[in-house]
Amino acid sequence: MIISLVNSKGGVGKSTLAGNLAGWLARQGRSVILADCDTQQSSSEWIREALPDLQVVRLADADAVLDELPSLRHEAEFVIADGPGSQTETSRALLMWADLAILPCKASMFEARALDKNTSFVRQAQAIRKGPPAVMAVLSMVGREYRLTRDMREAAAGLGLKIADTAVTLRQAYADAPGQATFVWNMGYVARGAAEEIEQLFQELFPEIAAESSTPQKRVEANGITSR
Ligand SMILES: Nc1ncnc2c1ncn2[C@@H]1O[C@H](COP(=O)(O)OP(=O)(O)OP(=O)(O)O)[C@@H](O)[C@H]1O
Ligand SMILES: [Mg+2]
Repeated sequence: MIISLVNSKGGVGKSTLAGNLAGWLARQGRSVILADCDTQQSSSEWIREALPDLQVVRLADADAVLDELPSLRHEAEFVIADGPGSQTETSRALLMWADLAILPCKASMFEARALDKNTSFVRQAQAIRKGPPAVMAVLSMVGREYRLTRDMREAAAGLGLKIADTAVTLRQAYADAPGQATFVWNMGYVARGAAEEIEQLFQELFPEIAAESSTPQKRVEANGITSR
């Protein structure tokens, strides 16, 4: 399965979410490749340090994405593709191969007026591919008290855009984790809120994976311990 984190707006939390998702899936015992499609290479540097055994691939531009992303599908259960903040062509290319597109958005971009314009590139890909990719918007870097208004939910629904119930709030721990070559769930008490929130988000997005890995056998495998 190819999961692309896209939004041609910069600094909305794509790499933060991509790195966390790659780390979370690996923690559930799944095979994962992180495909870093941003020339800033922030997610690949983080994951290389935090999880040296996880395969990391850098795809420099739209051509590399179109040519190389599909073959990665055969090498792991999940390919997590971190999109760039400015090169729209690369974001479009990522949507051509993705099974699921996760669209991190700051709350201000959810104003009903902006939503149509900001998400048109996703609908264009769905029209070309006659359906896929499935899309899930995730509110990112919002205040803890932020709540989506009914107007915004209706505007999103009108555009066929689902919004995850769990939002990623603004917390220092998310920004600190890459510099410490780790993840919020390894950072103890200071990052407890972030760890709970990110777990809740991924359980919401991938309920089957969360359910399977909560069985004792899977937990043992995920920890790299064999029972034999
Ligand atoms: N929920 C959060 N709370 C606090 N800081 C965050 C959060 N999410 C991201 N950040 C910080 O905000 C900055 C931008 O986030 P990130 O790099 O993930 O965005 P991006 O969409 O990948 O940006 P770009 O478009 O430049 O690739 C980073 O410094 C990151 O550590
Ligand atoms: Mg990024």
